[in-house]
Amino acid sequence: MTVLVVYESMYGNTHRIAGSIARGLTEAGAPAEVRSTAEAQRHPPAAGDVLVVGAPTHGHGLSRENSREQAVRDASRHHLDVDGSAGGPGVREWLAGLAAAGGRAAAFDTRVKGPAVLTGRASQKIARALEEHRYELFARPESFLVSMDNELLPGEEELAAAWGRDLAAAL
Ligand SMILES: Cc1cc2nc3c(=O)[nH]c(=O)nc-3n(C[C@H](O)[C@H](O)[C@H](O)COP(=O)(O)O)c2cc1C
Repeated sequence: MTVLVVYESMYGNTHRIAGSIARGLTEAGAPAEVRSTAEAQRHPPAAGDVLVVGAPTHGHGLSRENSREQAVRDASRHHLDVDGSAGGPGVREWLAGLAAAGGRAAAFDTRVKGPAVLTGRASQKIARALEEHRYELFARPESFLVSMDNELLPGEEELAAAWGRDLAAAL
């Protein structure tokens, strides 16, 4: 069984959270590989692989080409570095091209701290798309939080590692 943690990231937050989730999975006995959407496009999941898919919340849901362009334009204003993976497809586009392979899956996102009804949660869109691809969700969608300045809040990477350990236990 291979566990793939697939992420999209503009400013690196979701990338870092993906790494922490993979660390937690691996520590708890479910060795996990981290792949950007571009890497996952080149090396698609095989039937039976476990997918853990994450993206930043943009416009209350999943990013689109225009919101990713906006993120790059905003980066210098917010003094943020653009992640090395940012030129790849968004999770929305990657999922649209994913074969309906089946298997187990889970979804996560990063989003601004606040009531989800106000911020939206990309993970809910990811979860729905995974189900449409005949993946069975084995955990509830999870969010990891950033400040209004788009910086991960203290402790979120440890929470992500703990979630990874919970995922390993559920597998
Ligand atoms: C264009 C754009 C739109 C965003 N829209 C939302 C939103 O609707 N809700 C929210 O909670 N955060 C929103 N954010 C904040 C991001 O979700 C947050 O900064 C996230 O951690 C970025 O992840 P990344 O560093 O992996 O790109 C938005 C950010 C950008 C750049």
